[in-house]
Amino acid sequence: MIARDQSSQALSQILESRSRDRGNLISLLQETQAKLGYIPREAMQTIADFLGIPRVEVWGVATFYNQFRLTPLGKHHTVVCMGTACHLAGGNLILEALERELDIKAGETSADGNFSLERVACIGCCMLAPVALIGDRIYPRMTPFKAEEALIPYRQNSDGKNTAD
Ligand code: FES
Repeated sequence: MIARDQSSQALSQILESRSRDRGNLISLLQETQAKLGYIPREAMQTIADFLGIPRVEVWGVATFYNQFRLTPLGKHHTVVCMGTACHLAGGNLILEALERELDIKAGETSADGNFSLERVACIGCCMLAPVALIGDRIYPRMTPFKAEEALIPYRQNSDGKNTAD
């Protein structure tokens, strides 16, 4: 995870080159997320101050669009494809299995920071539907059972390590 002063430095660099036009709000949120991996609360306040708009307006936009993450990614970012081919092949069942197993919803990060979960549109390997990714590893032709099994090497032991590291 990026330390608070690093993230505020990164945000300052983004703002340096931008005008204070409120029409920049979405692109500022996108750049912040691209740089930090998510949009911290402090960043929303900084952007609101920069644009001269209420923080609630920034919050409203950040929470309206599901492209924005409000929590940092987990150590093992897990993605379920919900594109047409994967959806038709049962992608929603894979997502439900992972949500149940990880005890988080899509868009959230586990309390220990080990997993984050996200639903995405087509990732370009429809022949393998339904597809999930854990980190950069692709898991093809998933079933709910295979999804549960795939998590095992990434789960933390009591010493905070796992066999996938
Ligand atoms: S729809 Fe899932 S990979 Fe294309």
